[in-house]
Amino acid sequence: MKNILIINGPNLNMLGQREPEKYGSLSLDEIKTYTEKKCKDEALLTWWQSNSESEIIEKLHELCNSSYEGLIINPAAFSHTSIAILDALKILKIPIIEVHLTNVYRREPFRHQMLTAQASSIIMSGLGKDSYYFAVKALLK
Ligand code: DQA
Repeated sequence: MKNILIINGPNLNMLGQREPEKYGSLSLDEIKTYTEKKCKDEALLTWWQSNSESEIIEKLHELCNSSYEGLIINPAAFSHTSIAILDALKILKIPIIEVHLTNVYRREPFRHQMLTAQASSIIMSGLGKDSYYFAVKALLK
C-alpha cells in the first residue's frame, strides 16, 4: 500500500457548484469517495485542500519530513501564477503528479502558462472525475 497525499488548491472545495459544465457535478468529497473506492486495496490516500497559497507552501514543507511516498497535486489557479509553490515542490524528493480536471489547453490562454507543472514528473489534464484515480495508478507504476 503506497501512502499518497492529494493536495487540492483554491476553489476546488466548491466543485459540484462551481461551473459544473466544465468541472462536472460531483463535489470534492464525492470525487474522494469515488477515487478511494476504485483504489482501496492499492493505496492509502490522504486528501487535503486549501484556498491559501501560504498554507499550501507550508504543507509542502511538512512533506519533506513525512512518510508520504508520492504527491498528487491540483494547484488549481496557482498552477498559472505561483513561482512560490513551484519552488516548494522542487524541494521534494518524492514523485509528484500534477492533475487538472479540465484540459487547460482547451481553455483561456492565461491558463496555458503552467508554472508549477515544471516540478512534476507527470501532468494529467482533462480526465475529469477520473483524474485522481489515474494519477494514483500512474504513481503506483
Ligand atoms: C483546474 C484548472 C485551473 O485553470 C483552474 O484555475 C482551476 C481548476 C482544473 O482542475 O481543471 O481552479 O486546475
